[in-house]
Amino acid sequence: MIGTGYVGLVSGACFADLGNDVICVDKDLKKINNLKNGIVPIYEPGLTELVKKNYNIGRLKFTNNLGYAVKKSNIVFICVGTPTKKNSNAADLTQIYKVAKEIGKHILKFKIIINKSTVPVTTGDEVERILSKRKSKKLFSVVSNPEFLREGEAIRDFSYPDRIIIGTKNSRSNKILKNLYSSLISKGAKYINVSRRAAELIKYASNAFLATKITFINEIANLCEKTNINIEDISIGMGLDKRIGSRFLRAGPAYGGSCFPKDTKAIINTADKFKINLSLIKSVIKSNDNRSILLLKRISQILKNKIKNKKICFLGVTFKANTDDMRDSSSLKMIPYLSKKGAIINYYDPTGFKKEFNNLKKVSFCKNVKSALIDSDLVIIHTEWNDFKSLNFKSIIKKKKFAIYDMRNIYTSSKMLKEKIKYYGVGW
Ligand SMILES: NC(=O)c1ccc[n+]([C@@H]2O[C@H](COP(=O)([O-])OP(=O)(O)OC[C@H]3O[C@@H](n4cnc5c(N)ncnc54)[C@H](O)[C@@H]3O)[C@@H](O)[C@H]2O)c1
Repeated sequence: MIGTGYVGLVSGACFADLGNDVICVDKDLKKINNLKNGIVPIYEPGLTELVKKNYNIGRLKFTNNLGYAVKKSNIVFICVGTPTKKNSNAADLTQIYKVAKEIGKHILKFKIIINKSTVPVTTGDEVERILSKRKSKKLFSVVSNPEFLREGEAIRDFSYPDRIIIGTKNSRSNKILKNLYSSLISKGAKYINVSRRAAELIKYASNAFLATKITFINEIANLCEKTNINIEDISIGMGLDKRIGSRFLRAGPAYGGSCFPKDTKAIINTADKFKINLSLIKSVIKSNDNRSILLLKRISQILKNKIKNKKICFLGVTFKANTDDMRDSSSLKMIPYLSKKGAIINYYDPTGFKKEFNNLKKVSFCKNVKSALIDSDLVIIHTEWNDFKSLNFKSIIKKKKFAIYDMRNIYTSSKMLKEKIKYYGVGW
């Protein structure tokens, strides 16, 4: 596994747990040394135990020596980042191509080189071109095997995937990979063999579709707010239709994280190159960009346009629960804005302090929920952690007047009404 991040480390540990010998490579030596000492750099439920177990029995190794790992392996997974390029919608493939060049130096016998990173259509062709500059095409096969795991549920998603997509027309590689995944296939995962380009596009199309579904329900939530309808009723009513499905159909803040924002941009960039206008996805991006502005407007209304010196408490700042990932979280737009307007912000997140808010005025991390809540004028439930699902706000906040803006609709308005708390949800 080249790149020991959210995807490489989880996949590496899970492949080792299935009985394979795995070497995880990262250029970050500190990360590698920590992993050797059982310190896992990311928050992912169950991962530390899985890493320690497989490291201790010798099936999982860590190194910063890419050449050593490639020489020792039959299958090489590229799992490095593909962030958005600066001032562009395109995916930055620098890390992929750098790794491909490095791999090329160390191929001595047949190897399958797999792009597990999310990469635009034709990236596999380019990796193949880079490798064939150094080595005969008989010595390698470039395959696309996109990853669909969700942070926070990554081990379960790896172990019980809905589908395994293998993009290759090379029958030898296909046979080897079907065998690699055989224990997941026997548990019910569908194994789909398509062309390399199709596999690359399946990943982007899937993420763009899910981002569209979230954005769709968020826009319907805006209509619910004006028509006195509870969006939760709409989500349930729609989601029970099997053609629609209930997942990714809950209104909330703008979608964020390390995938949807960058992948929606990258797919429109790819389509633009082929002179195809993905107008729907373009609208989704626009609507999602506007989402935090809308939610900030509502905060302003709740505070009667007096944000200065108001004590605001953020419960959760990551883009979703059960992860420490801050990439493109909507809190990165909201907290700086409110801080600039003079609010005094306390935040608590189960995954701890966030350096992203370091330089902001009057923004403090609190070590527990209670200390974050005390004395708040407004509580914003930003992330749906279980820790926030049964709080007794009145007894903790100890203030006569305060409001709650529940961006995840965790609580019900009737419960809050009984307690005479000013309570606002998303979409009603
Ligand atoms: N995070 C997710 O939930 C998720 C899910 C599915 C797919 N993906 C895709 O998987 C890819 C990786 O995402 P991630 O979140 O794991 O990224 P990440 O940033 O967490 O990890 C990437 C790792 O690669 C390492 N790296 C970079 N260049 C290297 C090199 N030359 N040699 C060795 N190591 C190197 C980095 O140090 C880093 O540790 C992306 O394309 C992403 O879109 C991510």
